[in-house]
Amino acid sequence: MLLLLLPLLWEGSLCQRLEVQPSLSVLVGMCVYIPCAFDFNEVSLNGSKPLYGYWFREGTNVLRGRPVATNDPRRSVEEQARGRFHLLGDPRMKNCSLRITDTQFSDTGSYYFRLDYGYDAYSYLKDRLYVNVTDLIQKPDISIPEVLELGSPVTLKCTFPWACGENRPLTFSWMGAALSSKPQSSGPSPSSEVSFIPGRKHHGTNLTCQVTLSGGHFSSKRTIQLNVSYAVQNVTITVAQDNRTSDLIPGNSSALVVKEGQSIQLLCAANSNPPASLSWILGNQTLASSQPSENGVLPLDLPHLGPADGGTYACLAQNPLGSKQASLRVSVQYPPRMLSPSCSWVQEGLSCTCSVQAEPAPSLRWWVGGRPVEGNGSSDTFQVISKRSGPWTNSSLRVKVDRVPDTTVSCEGKNPQGTHTLLFQLLPVLSAQEHSSWPLMLTLLRGALMGAGFLLTYGLTWLHYTRKPLGREQPPAPQAAPPSR
Ligand SMILES: *[C@@H]1O[C@H](CO)[C@@H](O)[C@H](O)[C@H]1NC(C)=O
Ligand SMILES: *[C@@H]1O[C@H](CO)[C@@H](O)[C@H](O)[C@H]1NC(C)=O
Ligand SMILES: *[C@@H]1O[C@H](CO)[C@@H](O)[C@H](O)[C@H]1NC(C)=O
Ligand SMILES: *[C@@H]1O[C@H](CO)[C@@H](O)[C@H](O)[C@H]1NC(C)=O
Repeated sequence: MLLLLLPLLWEGSLCQRLEVQPSLSVLVGMCVYIPCAFDFNEVSLNGSKPLYGYWFREGTNVLRGRPVATNDPRRSVEEQARGRFHLLGDPRMKNCSLRITDTQFSDTGSYYFRLDYGYDAYSYLKDRLYVNVTDLIQKPDISIPEVLELGSPVTLKCTFPWACGENRPLTFSWMGAALSSKPQSSGPSPSSEVSFIPGRKHHGTNLTCQVTLSGGHFSSKRTIQLNVSYAVQNVTITVAQDNRTSDLIPGNSSALVVKEGQSIQLLCAANSNPPASLSWILGNQTLASSQPSENGVLPLDLPHLGPADGGTYACLAQNPLGSKQASLRVSVQYPPRMLSPSCSWVQEGLSCTCSVQAEPAPSLRWWVGGRPVEGNGSSDTFQVISKRSGPWTNSSLRVKVDRVPDTTVSCEGKNPQGTHTLLFQLLPVLSAQEHSSWPLMLTLLRGALMGAGFLLTYGLTWLHYTRKPLGREQPPAPQAAPPSR
């Protein structure tokens, strides 16, 4: 009876404080360290007797039940808590600090500390500890450079700092298209590394680090998207015409042939990371440009194409890692047109020049008196010098005569789009020498005849040497009719 009473009396006298956080949350599978300190009557300590501390789950019988942790070697602990609950603090030092590793959902509940010093004992029931084991929400962290450079080896680190990993190792598993295998590492280390060489095709792919704890019971993972920077890979030009979009034209291509007056739209797109800025360039002139944007397309409208719109259109795509361009030659086809034709008298006879512009480049032929002057070069009577450059064919004709012949001279420009003929009617009234200084009086009659699939135009120039103005409507002499084809 006395033996049973003593502890009760003593417990009353020892009524002291215990300092521990009243409640805490811990993620399942994790470890937690709970600092704890207590006070008790110093007088009852006399150094020779052992002092034992116990952590009990609420509701456990302190005499017959098992504690979850204790420094008392005579008492066995709860099966479930074995190896996971540790009384780290030394009760002699008034230290009741507790550590729980590899937490389980079933650890959720209230616990209290009990001190036992020989027959004297005290349970700190007022200062209880509530442990709440929650679902694993923590995800591993992946450290990765913001931008991966194409072709430069990179090492990623996956860290899971919340795990204590004392009793059971952490398992890290990596997955992703950028990795040739699925590396795994297992051990006490809270981190794992993986290396690879980023390729173009890895941009935008997922990479996952998964950490598994508690011998496979709980796991958590993090997925990141790889951002691989690369220079412009390819520039594509698309042509839209009449609301139809033609196939993509990669890189350089042959010419796009359009007829004068047609409208087209060119679209340029480039593939790079970071996105490229795009510009349309014709010659040394920038026609349009755009700021970098994801999936950017730069359109260039070319309405009512004229001869001056022909040329090589280049689309230049630039990002900080480099630039690339694609080009498309646009050939605007039009029938021959003549520029500043003239005939004049020179020392040895008649000198005529004719410039014809057309796309494709025109052929040019002279006719004298209804007969073609064959080829380049000179004969006794004729000398023809022709030069071709781009859409131009320029030619000069010399006719060695000592007096104005009563005939016609015509210049004919021809390409698949049509034929244009300019006719000079020579009207001898006075000798050439007498009037060589007179300005030429030109009257131009132009008519357009639509032939079978080609355009035929001809002009008529009256070259005359009289002071009298000439009737404009006078038709050319029959033998001087323009060659009609
Ligand atoms: C209690 O014991 C733990 C484990 O030995 C120690 O880390 C901690 O510092 C102690 N607390 C105090 C207040 O001495
Ligand atoms: C990449 O990960 C994201 C987010 O985790 C997911 O929505 C997406 O479907 C994944 N893509 C692929 C190709 O797996
Ligand atoms: C396109 O043409 C440019 C200049 O003519 C040349 O430097 C480049 O290599 C060509 N690109 C392709 C893909 O053929
Ligand atoms: C042909 O003549 C036109 C017009 O006078 C000129 O612009 C062009 O440069 C000339 N071309 C050649 C090859 O002489």
